[in-house]
Amino acid sequence: MGITKICCIGAGYVGGPTMAIIAQKCPQIQVTVVDLNEERIAAWNDEDVNNIPIYEPGLSDIVKEARGRNLFFSTDVEKAIDEAQMIFISVNTPTKTYGKGKGMAADLKFIELCARQIAKVAKENKIVVEKSTLPVRTAEAIKSILDNTGNGVKFQILSNPEFLAEGTAVQDLLNPDRILIGGDTTEEGQKAIQALVDVYANWVSEDRILTTNVWSSELSKLTANAFLAQRISSINAMSELCEKTGADVNEVARAIGMDSRIGPKFLKASVGFGGSCFQKDILNLVYIAKSYGLNEVADYWEQVIIMNDHQKRRFSNNIVKTLYNTVSDKKIAFLGWAFKKDTNDTRESAAIYVADDLISENAKIAVYDPKVSRKKVLADLDYLQSRAADENVNSVLSFENPYEACFNAHAVAILTEWDEFVNYDWQKIYDSMQKPAFVFDGRNILNGSDLEKIGFVYQAIGS
Ligand code: NAD
Ligand code: UGA
Repeated sequence: MGITKICCIGAGYVGGPTMAIIAQKCPQIQVTVVDLNEERIAAWNDEDVNNIPIYEPGLSDIVKEARGRNLFFSTDVEKAIDEAQMIFISVNTPTKTYGKGKGMAADLKFIELCARQIAKVAKENKIVVEKSTLPVRTAEAIKSILDNTGNGVKFQILSNPEFLAEGTAVQDLLNPDRILIGGDTTEEGQKAIQALVDVYANWVSEDRILTTNVWSSELSKLTANAFLAQRISSINAMSELCEKTGADVNEVARAIGMDSRIGPKFLKASVGFGGSCFQKDILNLVYIAKSYGLNEVADYWEQVIIMNDHQKRRFSNNIVKTLYNTVSDKKIAFLGWAFKKDTNDTRESAAIYVADDLISENAKIAVYDPKVSRKKVLADLDYLQSRAADENVNSVLSFENPYEACFNAHAVAILTEWDEFVNYDWQKIYDSMQKPAFVFDGRNILNGSDLEKIGFVYQAIGS
């Protein structure tokens, strides 16, 4: 019998969009997304779909279509678990901030809580799907909790990692490069795999649905993120060399990207990758390798993070150095705060670290981001605990619109590649700024020679 009721625990950047697409594409399946966070669920249920908690192009229309039909958002976790035949776990798995593995290992406390809650509530056999990104062999722990604390019902654990990228989540979910499903090799395991294959087959062609064993699936997700992040650190390493040698990193990326073995994607030099996952997942990989005594493997991957940290610091150091070695009381406009364009997510955004460095040098930062509020900017800075919260309040100026942010500034720094930045009236911005007026393009998106004609001193990463 096919699946008719799905529950997803975690209504975040993965749970929300993923389930919205399943609901849209499978009207015969009732999909309930649950979360402990009442505010988040209330926002998902907001009458005005423009107020849903996650900004993703195209998402609000899909939510509008499916919500109330076969897509529901609720805080009643137990009811949804009880009713569902298939339960996705999409809770957060952040880097541990305490105890063994602090700063490296993934914190699995939310995963364990889910497993215990499922075990407590379930009265019938269920398929539990790991959607969160997890260390290899986590399914073993989940299975042990389910089997030892449950009501004697049978569970199948599948690994079904998510590969969507924020900002393009809807397109990634509608047209995935592949769907990966790992399960047990037993007959029951294979049946569970087939049940999930059948869900995806509603809109994904079967040749794009890969099935494998659980451990390969879990490790493939960490490997994919490590490889993607490694490409960024590789091109960023070259960007520093370009700046010293007169080469242009965009030209280098273009030249190597045309080699079909290398390919053109993920070769954009930047102020550093951000987002909730690359750093967390690589640190986790490093931790796993170390825990098996594989120190060379661990050191190899750790270098991707070291390079990324260096790139962020290098960008802020360059601003200070170029502004005559002092930014004290200088206004520096930040265009962009989100970790990439087309998202309101700021987790691990390079902007946070660059701002933190500059505030430590007594700069005043005026941030404008089309999707990020001042409250969020301050919360991100406070989270670093570099200084008292009121010092952050005093150092971050108001930012109602980009022209206001740039008014009277000594420099503009581009931290996110929002398309709209390219179309600003840069003459107007120049006229309103302190002279000489500097632009530090951390995303390589502006036309440097046009800005130089206006009078700006323009510096881009890698040229
Ligand atoms: P998120 O923080 O946006 O959402 C997680 C949600 O889970 C939160 O709303 C939280 O309140 C809820 N939650 C935690 N414990 C709970 C519990 N016991 N019961 C009910 N709700 C609970 O996180 P996210 O960005 O959606 O990431 C989730 C997982 O997916 C992570 O493992 C991440 O690595 C992985 N992932 C994320 C992305 C991405 O683009 N963000 C992409 C692929 C994979
Ligand atoms: C990434 C992966 O791309 C997804 O496949 C994966 O599912 C997800 O992580 C996850 O596991 O969470 P995401 O972090 O949302 O997705 O966004 P990316 O497009 O990968 O960008 C990550 C960061 O790298 C951004 O800060 C982006 O600006 C930066 N980046 C990306 C570059 O600096 N240069 C590039 O060429 C590409």
